[in-house]
Amino acid sequence: MVKIVLGSELPAEEQLQPQLAHLVTGGRGSLAFLIGDNDCRERLLGRSIHWDRVLLAFEDGEASGYVAFKHHRRGPFALRLQPFVAEFGWLMGRLRFAGFCLSEWREWRYPFLLYGLRVSKAARNQGIGSALVQACCAQAVTAGFKEAYLEVPLDNARARALYLHNGFRLLRKRWVPWPPVRSMLRRLERNA
Ligand SMILES: CC(C)(COP(=O)(O)OP(=O)(O)OC[C@H]1O[C@@H](n2cnc3c(N)ncnc32)[C@H](O)[C@@H]1OP(=O)(O)O)[C@@H](O)C(=O)NCCC(=O)NCCS
Repeated sequence: MVKIVLGSELPAEEQLQPQLAHLVTGGRGSLAFLIGDNDCRERLLGRSIHWDRVLLAFEDGEASGYVAFKHHRRGPFALRLQPFVAEFGWLMGRLRFAGFCLSEWREWRYPFLLYGLRVSKAARNQGIGSALVQACCAQAVTAGFKEAYLEVPLDNARARALYLHNGFRLLRKRWVPWPPVRSMLRRLERNA
């Protein structure tokens, strides 16, 4: 039985569990040139998570997936320079941090953005991804939005199909960010 919980509703000690930070920082692989591999992303962003922008799926007490979202200029990660400097040094840390900030600010164009979605490999194909997408749309409705947007990399056919099956439709291709993405939109009803 899958239970979906808003991260900010978890007890503080659970938010500090390293496996949760590892899961939530596992996305944004397309930005590896700026924020490194999985372990590096966890060091850069793992202590900067806005838990009110993350929904977590739990199965038998184990976190098996997450969806992150962004609205009112607040996404799942606080922008903190210090971990970038500690990781990459004074100059490269600042350059990579600036690149990451630009990537984050670019998305402010979307009133409500489904920012990231990931299900642990062992838990895939059981409906958890769909349940997370639906729960994210319900969050958007609760926050008063009539539309939810997302961006999906052109080469991620699996995720694109999942979003299409969950009520999103394809919008235009975007060349920025690189690699290019398709933006998608779902109009929301009050019972989404
Ligand atoms: C994309 C991703 C999140 C999908 O997660 P998932 O939990 O496997 O998704 P679902 O189980 O809801 O759907 C996958 C398929 O499982 C099957 N499925 C769905 N519910 C099911 C159920 N209750 N029982 C059995 N199979 C089921 C369906 O065939 C579904 O395919 P469909 O959407 O074409 O109908 C996952 O593959 C992932 O984490 N990928 C890597 C990260 C990624 O690409 N993220 C997206 C970035 S834009």
